Formats: sequence, C-alpha cells, structure tokens
Amino acid sequence: MHKAAVTDHPVHELIRNRWSPRAFSDKPIPEVVLRSLFEAARWAPSSYNEQPWAYIVATKDDKVNFDKILGALVEFNAGWAKNAAALAIAVARLDFANNQTPNRNAQYDTGAATALLSVEATARGLVVHQMAGFDPEKARQAFAIPEGWEPIAAIAIGYPGDPDSLPPKLKDRELAPRTRKPIRDFVMTGSWGHTAPFAAK
Ligand SMILES: Cc1cc2nc3c(=O)[nH]c(=O)nc-3n(C[C@H](O)[C@H](O)[C@H](O)COP(=O)(O)O)c2cc1C
Repeated sequence: MHKAAVTDHPVHELIRNRWSPRAFSDKPIPEVVLRSLFEAARWAPSSYNEQPWAYIVATKDDKVNFDKILGALVEFNAGWAKNAAALAIAVARLDFANNQTPNRNAQYDTGAATALLSVEATARGLVVHQMAGFDPEKARQAFAIPEGWEPIAAIAIGYPGDPDSLPPKLKDRELAPRTRKPIRDFVMTGSWGHTAPFAAK
C-alpha cells in the first residue's frame, strides 16, 4: 500500500512516498539492501562531521537480538513492530570524540542520518517506522550501550504489508489521511511568529 502525501507545493516523489506504516510483509531484507540503508545514513551531514550516530540492528532471523529490541518497546509499538523484518535503535554520542565537550547537535544529526536512511529505504520499496515509545534504559542494558551514548529512537524496517493484517483500530490509522501543518505556520522571518511572505502563498 502507498500513502503518498497530498502536498501543498511540489516535492520529490521520494519525499511524498515516504510514510510510517504499521503493516509489514514477512519478506526479509537482503543484506546488500541493509548495507545501502546504513550507507545512506553514513552520508548525512553532521556538525563538525562528527557522525555522532550508531545503530544497533537485528533482523528477524537473529531472534535473540530481535527480541531484545522488541522487549524494549512499549506494548503498543511491540504489537505491530514484531512483524517488521528488522528492528534497530538509533544511538547518539552526546560529546565530541576529540575533546569530550557536549555536542548539542548530536540528536539532531542522528535524526538527519535516520531521515536519509528512510529516504533510501523508500527508494528501494521499503518502509521505515521510527518510535519514541521504547525504554532507553532497557536498550542500554540489553546491548551494553556505554555512558555518553543516548538511545534516541527505535526503528522498524521492512517491506510494506497488508493493512488487513492489522487489528481494526490500527487498520483505521493505517488508512487515515496523512496530515501536516502548512508551511506558513513554521517558516518565519524578521521576528518570531512572523510568517515569511513566500510561505504565506
Ligand atoms: C522520533 C519519532 C518517534 C516516533 N514514535 C512513534 C511511536 O512510538 N509509535 C508510533 O506508532 N509512531 C511513532 N512515530 C511515527 C509518527 O507518528 C509519524 O512519523 C507521524 O505521524 C507522521 O506520519 P508519516 O511518517 O506517515 O508521515 C514516530 C516518529 C518519529 C520521527
């Protein structure tokens, strides 16, 4: 199933077509494709080119590690993410490696890396669904994530599935239209709260 964004202004089809479904097919992700997803993350921009991200990844055939990620998810997310072909946790290093001062863009850069991963996935017919609903401390314990590294988001990755495979409430959400604020609400100029004229049109 595709759920392309109905945009106010034209954007690239990869951006229109990326979305966060909860239905996954049981088709496994070839290793060569997994490598390309993380290669896309690798080429994200980052402050001082620090590349402060790391990903803990488990495919479904690695049941031990897949279940460790699944076990860190909140119940709602585990209910559907268990069907994804791969689960991951995006982790950010919170200080700079060379001088140990705080990197206030670490989470931002890790999000940018995951955004590129999502776009690459879309280009390859995969879907990605990020999740804040997980327990970072459980993830830390399960994977021995060191101090100074922060689990930021869990990620379900796989090929799209049939919305009919979902329980009724989730199926309704799967089929609901995608919505966004208009750009005039968040593109400003001059002083806070003043919409940039180009964005008002
Ligand atoms: C950092 C982050 C955390 C999210 N957490 C959850 C989550 O815990 N559970 C969930 O079902 N969806 C989660 N989502 C998915 C969002 O709800 C979804 O991206 C948003 O509704 C926009 O839908 P779209 O991605 O299909 O355009 C999360 C997305 C992001 C980027």
